Amino acid sequence: MKKYLFNINKQLFVFFGIILFSTKAYTQNNRLILEPCMEPFYHGVASGDPLADRVIIWTRITPTINQTGSILVNWKIALDTGMQNIINNGSLFTNSTVDYTVKVDVTNLQPNTYYYYEFESDGKHSVRGRTKTAPNTNNDSARFAIVSCANFEAGFFNVYKNIVQRNDIDAVICLGDYIYEYETGGYSPNTTANRTWEPANEIISIADYRMRYSVYHLDEDLRKCHQQYPFIVIWDDHESANDAWLNGAENHTNGTEGNWLTRKNAAKQAYFEWLPIRQANGNDPYQIFRHIQYGNLLDLIMLDTRLHGRDVQAGTTGTTVNSTTRQLLGTDQFTWLGNRLDSSNCQWKILAQQVMMAPLKILGTAINDDQWDGYPAERNRVFNHIISNNINNVVVLTGDIHSSWANDLPLSGYNGTTGANSAGVEFVTPSVTSPGITIPGGATAIQLSNSHIKYADLNQHGFILLTVTSQKTQADWYYVNTIDFSTAVATSTKSYYVNNNERFLRNSTIAMQASSTITNTLQAPPCPRPNTVTSIYSQGQNVILSIYPNPAISEIYFQYSILQSGNAIFSVYDINGKSIQINLSEYVSDGIHIGKIDVSQLSAGMYLLVIENGNSKTEKKFIKQ
Ligand SMILES: [Fe+2]
Repeated sequence: MKKYLFNINKQLFVFFGIILFSTKAYTQNNRLILEPCMEPFYHGVASGDPLADRVIIWTRITPTINQTGSILVNWKIALDTGMQNIINNGSLFTNSTVDYTVKVDVTNLQPNTYYYYEFESDGKHSVRGRTKTAPNTNNDSARFAIVSCANFEAGFFNVYKNIVQRNDIDAVICLGDYIYEYETGGYSPNTTANRTWEPANEIISIADYRMRYSVYHLDEDLRKCHQQYPFIVIWDDHESANDAWLNGAENHTNGTEGNWLTRKNAAKQAYFEWLPIRQANGNDPYQIFRHIQYGNLLDLIMLDTRLHGRDVQAGTTGTTVNSTTRQLLGTDQFTWLGNRLDSSNCQWKILAQQVMMAPLKILGTAINDDQWDGYPAERNRVFNHIISNNINNVVVLTGDIHSSWANDLPLSGYNGTTGANSAGVEFVTPSVTSPGITIPGGATAIQLSNSHIKYADLNQHGFILLTVTSQKTQADWYYVNTIDFSTAVATSTKSYYVNNNERFLRNSTIAMQASSTITNTLQAPPCPRPNTVTSIYSQGQNVILSIYPNPAISEIYFQYSILQSGNAIFSVYDINGKSIQINLSEYVSDGIHIGKIDVSQLSAGMYLLVIENGNSKTEKKFIKQ
């Protein structure tokens, strides 16, 4: 971090501190770029939480210089890629209170149907997205890609790239760690991939979280994955801070990093702004536990084991851990889960949640107090509910630990050979990029002392392809061969499944194929890019993506894109175009960057932030309170 004290305006004699975080040069291969033809919808489009009659569609608009208030955005949804057969359309305003994100819950849709959608504002169009509603009756099958743990700095999102190419899934289910909160270089940076996120600091404030999401949505592979499929998402810890629980987190220090509740609320708000998740109706609009039904075939029961009701981690042995009042879900969520399991008319009850539910012991001792092993009473309550209410076909989906597992969920008297006395099964998806652990023979040793663990791989990156049919639910683990450079290759090496009305896993030597058992129309064409470039800036330009806060009090914090490396000049003008503060000239590499300017000495009013670099000049208005 460097600090500059610069120019004195002749009339105002005002000093300004300008701080620019140091930035690493991106190479041509891995820098983040804004695609000019996507202006002002640089972050693409997304959809999520599909129901039989509705789906969330999403985008984010980057305001132009003159757009300081609300911005009108039109949307439409159609049955065809050419957007001729329009089914529904509308318009709404967005503004700075939601970071200029746009979210619409599109209703009156038909079940089990592909739709195409796009946004328009001021004559400019977004790329078209594709989405798909859930079925509402008997359906032979459904297929999902299960992902978690995408550390941008750890490598390329080849998992998302491969999923885009598959073109045979109904939705992507993200079990959390969609982003990470660490500072640049703070968690497993990959010097070969050389991908650097912004902000460079650990993200704590609402502006920090928003700008980190902005960087993620500019990743081409993730952006295209959103464009292609609906996402069904829950957060884990790193959407707020490492090992978060209800009233704190391992990676949060009250005081120096502010108040936890403030930070947690900022993290939740940014999550709901930037991801296509449906806002809840109850007291807490940012509640993520909810259910999404695919006809009578499956009920996706999405849980929050992280921020809603979790007691603090406290080891895996001792009186505190074994207390019967200890909670992971919280009372209201546990009651909701029980009711959902009891009342669901679906064949499969699929619990999509964050941390591993099956016990994991080494030499008889549980090793991770952040997973259900640290909350044994809550796990017993869930298992007891499943067994005492005779609930069949429970499948648990898990992320969090950057490794792959296939587990039975053992009750007392569990038999590892026959699978008798298992409550259900669990599939744990590997990470997109975050590092696992490499222990030679480690997976084998774990399996030898945990007979309910049928498969473990501790360090590969990939995803689970989950195929649900009336006969069985199967997980195929797909692994990418590298995250050091961009490639779409992923291969399946392991498959486990559970039969209808059985409660234990069986091994399969064959991954599920898009075959006659898959009766959905899965080959709808990927959505096209608009073929008309409507932007006057089609040759490319520097762009200020955001200014926070706006109105500003003491400093502005802004994210901007530089098209060509070179010296850039950062200035503040008054609304009459009079330069009142210039001129930090700083070498800036091409890519996305963040800057700060102290505006505490400015009198109240409207100002312009201006960035000049090469032949490109970009500016954006902000208000000083
Ligand atoms: Fe993670």
